[in-house]
Amino acid sequence: MIGELEAPTMVQNEMLPEELLNTIKARRTLKPQQFTGRQIERRVIEDMLESANWAPTYNNTEPWRFSVYEGEGKRILANARAEFIEKNGGMDIGLHENTRSDLIAEADRCTYIITLGMKRHPDVPLITEQFGTACAIQNMLLMATTHRVGVKWSYGGRDHSDDLKEYLGLVPRDALFGFLLIGTVEEWPDGERESGIESKVRWVSGD
Ligand SMILES: Cc1cc2nc3c(=O)[nH]c(=O)nc-3n(C[C@H](O)[C@H](O)[C@H](O)COP(=O)(O)O)c2cc1C
Repeated sequence: MIGELEAPTMVQNEMLPEELLNTIKARRTLKPQQFTGRQIERRVIEDMLESANWAPTYNNTEPWRFSVYEGEGKRILANARAEFIEKNGGMDIGLHENTRSDLIAEADRCTYIITLGMKRHPDVPLITEQFGTACAIQNMLLMATTHRVGVKWSYGGRDHSDDLKEYLGLVPRDALFGFLLIGTVEEWPDGERESGIESKVRWVSGD
């Protein structure tokens, strides 16, 4: 396991640039329908959480707050989400796919679920907090990739009620970035992109 808060005193370049690029390219969104239900060692989740904590943040606010649900805990979360959705209007707010039974079935297919919270700092811009939290989540996705553990980042935005935030230890001004649905898969698909990076970059040399 990667040591907690163990900062390298100098850059230990143990990974070749092409190895990192391969990991980045190998990261896939893998869905609970594909999950096999095999156990995942807790240290994989601990590595993901530790890697999240090394994301950059404006003013060192480190705003990410996570809850990890496993075993019966996943159903407890699913039931809480369903309860708040029902209380806050359910179908009226367009949550057709998030019925109680759907959420429980989804939770049962996952080995772990991590909730992605962001604690707002009163003195820094919202957007910088969001940038930092998104970086932390990407770190987790990449770490899961190195362990060949499948993850889907599910935003599920419409059930981010104040009730759900409070349930997760947040307050209304905080944010919920969704859920990491985590499981093992049999097949690891190749990714694809609509266009190469060349079409999204301008180089300006001033020559
Ligand atoms: C913030 C965020 C939320 C996402 N939410 C969903 C989702 O609700 N359902 C889904 O199928 N994919 C979701 N995705 C995954 C994207 O669809 C996926 O990243 C994209 O298709 C590219 O595939 P790849 O991740 O395998 O490279 C989400 C991705 C991000 C960054």
